[in-house]
Amino acid sequence: MTLSETRFGTHPDAIDLAALPRDFVWGTATSAYQIEGAVAEDGRGPSIWDTFSRTPGAVDGGHTGDLACDHYHRWREDIGLMRELGTNGYRLSIAWPRVVPDGDGPVNAKGLDFYDRLVDGLLAAGIEPSVTLYHWDLPQALQDRGGWPARATAEHFAGYAGVVAQRLGDRVTQWATLNEPLCSAWIGHLEGKMAPGWTDLTAAVQASYHLLLGHGLAARAVRAAAPGAQIGIVNNLSTVVPATDGASDHAAARRMDGHVNRWWLDPVHGRGFPADMREVYGVELPERPGDLETIAAPLDWIGLNYYFPQTVTADPHGPAPYARMTERPGVPRTGMDWEVDADGLETLIMRLADDYGARRILITENGSSYPDTVAPDGSVHDPERTAYLTAHLAACARAARRGAPLAGYYAWSLLDNFEWAYGYDKRFGLVHVDYETQARTIKTSGRHYAEVIAAHRNTRP
Ligand code: IFM
Repeated sequence: MTLSETRFGTHPDAIDLAALPRDFVWGTATSAYQIEGAVAEDGRGPSIWDTFSRTPGAVDGGHTGDLACDHYHRWREDIGLMRELGTNGYRLSIAWPRVVPDGDGPVNAKGLDFYDRLVDGLLAAGIEPSVTLYHWDLPQALQDRGGWPARATAEHFAGYAGVVAQRLGDRVTQWATLNEPLCSAWIGHLEGKMAPGWTDLTAAVQASYHLLLGHGLAARAVRAAAPGAQIGIVNNLSTVVPATDGASDHAAARRMDGHVNRWWLDPVHGRGFPADMREVYGVELPERPGDLETIAAPLDWIGLNYYFPQTVTADPHGPAPYARMTERPGVPRTGMDWEVDADGLETLIMRLADDYGARRILITENGSSYPDTVAPDGSVHDPERTAYLTAHLAACARAARRGAPLAGYYAWSLLDNFEWAYGYDKRFGLVHVDYETQARTIKTSGRHYAEVIAAHRNTRP
């Protein structure tokens, strides 16, 4: 697909760029453990992902984030890549164990210095940093004291958030507390497929509660340290539809919607934890007076990470929510085996706008993994990722045309990186990384993104 087809043509994926606001943020996103490496450098403490990745059988190929993309040393080059793409925003996460190695207590000046330099480098390049405070790398010392199922972890999170905001708040405006708490709670504590690798429903529900409490406490701490801060939370949401017209699949879809969407959205919007899901989990929440108000502190924006839709059937013998995804035959899938459905992104943006009254929505992640190959001339041609990107940007533009307050899009990811339990074999980058040499190569999709960004700049005077 050529740019002219996407801009002006009649191709179904045509992007209505004029629907996007003039100050739209065109960004890329990464997270600390997935790209930084340098896990034992300059005083960084161990995180639960250092531990989990060393657990035999936990991560494909026994891969770890020890070196990852070596971004800790190559960040200047990586900012250069962002400039080449023409982006004006970058979503990064701060490694809590780099800043407060034990989770609470002494602050590691060298850790803060790294992010200080990174933020200055981004600003000098005309790229606005968007800082996420927690993207899954809990200090191991806190895990040893109970982890997210323990209330104290939420309180320590706020302490760490205040430290970071104090240091960077004069230059960073946009803050996210948590990235995808669903993964921390459900995948980490219920399914056991992410750190800390537990399979315990009670612990998972308690973790979910304390993650959201931590969000509210951290939001308060950031506002206190950086009064101009714009604060949000980032959730990975899915559209959920029943596999059949049967009543049990309808009920299953309702439960799955509660599990992946409402459990995370309702409390931060002042609706409390959904009653139907409390019943499904059957776990008492560790509530204290005032917690719900803390969790529901007003947000300046909401982040949406979107990857795939879910078609759901009942699974009475599976884990909560006793529902599972089914495959729709004939629907294209990415290298993660996730269905491609750009319409789902439009639907979710409209749901945030219409059902939750969001005032500012950012697509904080969206992207696809495919098994890229490097051509003999060194180029990386990735038509499937390019098509995925285009289709999802078109969905964003449709939602904006329908009036949704969509303010930006951060492509996941800037770089190929450590894809958690899948190790390095799943590549999401707009930029290819050769893990032997650390050479970076902008893929066709990255060039295409750059063209779209440039075209949007030219769309309006
Ligand atoms: O790589 C992850 C990221 O860390 C969180 N959102 C989903 C991405 C792709 O799986």
